[in-house]
Amino acid sequence: MTRERLWLRSFLGITLIGMVLFGFSHGSISLADESEPDNLRNLASQRGIFIGAAVMSSQLNEPLFASTLAKQFNMVVAENEMKFSYLQPRKGHFSFTAADRIVEFAMKHDMAVRGHCLLWHQQNPTWLNKKWTKAELLDVMRHHITTVVQHYRGRVKYWDVVNEGIEDNGSYRRTVWYNVIGKDYIDEAFKAAHAVDPDAELYYNDYGAEGLNDKAMAIYRLVRGMKKRGVPIHGVGLQMHIDASGYPLNSGLKRNIQRLTDLGLKVHITEMDVRLTTPASKASLERQRRIYRDIMEVCLENPNVTAVLTWGLTDRYTWIPQHAPSSWAGMGEPLLFDVNYGKKPAFYGVQEALKGL
Ligand code: XIL
Repeated sequence: MTRERLWLRSFLGITLIGMVLFGFSHGSISLADESEPDNLRNLASQRGIFIGAAVMSSQLNEPLFASTLAKQFNMVVAENEMKFSYLQPRKGHFSFTAADRIVEFAMKHDMAVRGHCLLWHQQNPTWLNKKWTKAELLDVMRHHITTVVQHYRGRVKYWDVVNEGIEDNGSYRRTVWYNVIGKDYIDEAFKAAHAVDPDAELYYNDYGAEGLNDKAMAIYRLVRGMKKRGVPIHGVGLQMHIDASGYPLNSGLKRNIQRLTDLGLKVHITEMDVRLTTPASKASLERQRRIYRDIMEVCLENPNVTAVLTWGLTDRYTWIPQHAPSSWAGMGEPLLFDVNYGKKPAFYGVQEALKGL
């Protein structure tokens, strides 16, 4: 069956289920989209880039969530369910059920998957908090990476191997991995992942390093060193959690991306959201549209930027503000779809950029 027909079949299936479950009560929300060629995923694949969103498996139960995701996006990432505490809640006991649902959804709808994330300092299981020897923790780290990458080999093509390993001032973050193993934990993690799946693209991912600041320079030096040492790193993820009012439109993003890709690396925008003071105004939604559009345009200019993902799909389920830093209180509405899955100005900003308008 051709890709289009498979897609159409899934789409019709979801639409029918959606109509049965929702009745026709949601009059303003059209499940049948008349403008399929304008769906972001179709436009993005014509431009040779993935457009993705972070999801939680429970959200896939919601017909409108599932249909919007499958229609508009061709890449998916687990917002939480591939993190260490979810996948290995007890030492040696792996739990893939929730993450598998997301991956199965992606396979069914012909979407690529980013795995997020093998090593981080947050959302770790409590059993990791103990006094380890270096050899013991290296063993734990390698066993986790090997088991997870093996489980998803052939289905998860892109991995955030190390997430947020650098502090804002450019020094190594004092995580459990760094404190016990030393800075070599990063090289060792990439080598372990590559040994299991040589076809996977392996990324270093971080926030606040989009423009040309100290942190971005430290990350540049880190990945340049890794490349020189022959460590199997293939890309850098720039998270892109940004504030619409504070974000300078000409921020050095383009030059930062250029110097990373000059090293032979790919770049993914991995967790984009553009938060606004809530409730949003017409003017702030317009500003958000311009930011999404500008960033998408910068990404499209460089062929080695191969994916742009938003950290969520709809403003109905965003990590901001409940789970985000407390300084972001009073902010939200950061995504492309509003709480009723309506397309926001930001959606059209991305669409225009993809169309080259
Ligand atoms: C966030 C999730 O969105 C929240 O649901 C969770 O409570 C905490 O983590 N950088 C990352 C992501 O790399 O994993 C974080 O996700 C957001 C910041």
